[in-house]
Amino acid sequence: MRFSLVLIDDEESIREGISMALEAEYDIRAFAAAEDALDSIRTGPPDLVLLDIGLPGMNGIEALRMIRQMHPEILVIMITAYEDVNTVIAAMKLGAHDYVVKPIIMDGLEVTIRNALESVRLRKEVRSLQEKFLQENIPCFIAESHEIQGVMELIAQVALSPDTPILILGETGTGKELIAGAIHYRSPNFKGPFVTVNCAAIPRDLVESELFGYEKGAFSGAGPAGKRGLIEEADQGTLFLDEVGDLSAQAQAKLLRFLESGEFYRVGSTAKRTIRTRIVSATNRDLDAMMQEGSFRKDLYFRLGVITVEVPSLNERTGDILPLANTFLVMFSDKFRKNFTAISAEARAALKGHAWAGNVRELRNVIERGVLIGKGPELSMEDLGIRETPRHCEAERTEAAARPVIPPEGVDLDELEREFERRYIEEALRMAEGNESRAARLLRMNHHTFRYRKKKVSWPPQS
Ligand SMILES: Nc1ncnc2c1ncn2[C@@H]1O[C@H](COP(=O)(O)OP(=O)(O)OP(=O)(O)O)[C@@H](O)[C@H]1O
Ligand SMILES: [Mg+2]
Repeated sequence: MRFSLVLIDDEESIREGISMALEAEYDIRAFAAAEDALDSIRTGPPDLVLLDIGLPGMNGIEALRMIRQMHPEILVIMITAYEDVNTVIAAMKLGAHDYVVKPIIMDGLEVTIRNALESVRLRKEVRSLQEKFLQENIPCFIAESHEIQGVMELIAQVALSPDTPILILGETGTGKELIAGAIHYRSPNFKGPFVTVNCAAIPRDLVESELFGYEKGAFSGAGPAGKRGLIEEADQGTLFLDEVGDLSAQAQAKLLRFLESGEFYRVGSTAKRTIRTRIVSATNRDLDAMMQEGSFRKDLYFRLGVITVEVPSLNERTGDILPLANTFLVMFSDKFRKNFTAISAEARAALKGHAWAGNVRELRNVIERGVLIGKGPELSMEDLGIRETPRHCEAERTEAAARPVIPPEGVDLDELEREFERRYIEEALRMAEGNESRAARLLRMNHHTFRYRKKKVSWPPQS
């Protein structure tokens, strides 16, 4: 890695001496006046600036302030006359990295520069490694609309403090899981584990042992060796609590205790354990409503949501629809070895006008299906197969569809729900010819969740 330096000093002998000594190792540009140097820094920011404090015209302190404003990542080393202690203090307060005192001893200056640049080299290395992790784990996150860009900026910022809990709220399919991953890979803990817990998928009586682990012989069925819980697995990394709105009251209480103290016990153990992990949680449930009716703890909400990120629905950020559609088009065209290159004008208009109740996930599915069944090279209206449900009609449509009939004697809502679920599970299994993994995919859940839900609604029915 060859670094670039800018030297600003009004004394010609100093400029020549330093340039000659350093030009073998660094790309160095020398200027007598700060004004000229700032132009050059603006167009081609160097890694480091050597800046004389006592300059005619714009002085060194003023120049430092300008450099920090333009490019805060540039290291600035001040050059000062011995008497200038107060000015040096002012410079360090403004963010100068270090200073050297005139007369300049070249060996000393070289060491100072090398040490300073070592931190730049490390930072660049970490950053490029982090980029690599991000790209490998979060492939192409599309964020064109300014609504989602606001979200991404907030995330980039809060990701930097690895202890802050972050709660991600948003409708189904808006990208909450992707965002959780992006937080992890942008945080200083990016090399640590990213552990996802699907709170809806863990059977209620196993939540505690899954999260906190257990000691051997803790309960019947506990393995002989004991087991680390998911919380322990996430040490020095990120624990992602997905579908956190689905936690039982008991699990909420246990989790809260851990969040408050950072300490926990494995089931059946008296040994207190501590770990350090960032908690990111997400839900598409309406936590406000759940808190009002008492099914979600307020204290837990405040612990989880020190920072709350609200992901706008796709209908609230229509600027993302076409960029997303184009990305999915290329992706699935590659995957299915098709030759799609464009989306027809009519189809584009339909995509933009559709009410995306399933958000990005629905859009992705529509494009996947279109690419699979279509001929190409242009994705047509027929390939999309979306019926006209323009966004502005959505409200009326769902209102009509959502008004159910309740007979005077009332209904058993739990049983209705189970019946509803049972019918979908039955149909998915039929379509998948009994293959559970495929049936689970049809219902957009993992195999584990599927098996659990199937058991919950007692399917197949016992005769
Ligand atoms: N901005 C985006 N760019 C590219 N793909 C995206 C984006 N947002 C979401 N997706 C894709 O959409 C699908 C749904 O995203 P994700 O699983 O993160 O949603 P979610 O908010 O967690 O939904 P749910 O509440 O149902 O769990 C995934 O396939 C994801 O890769
Ligand atoms: Mg999700």
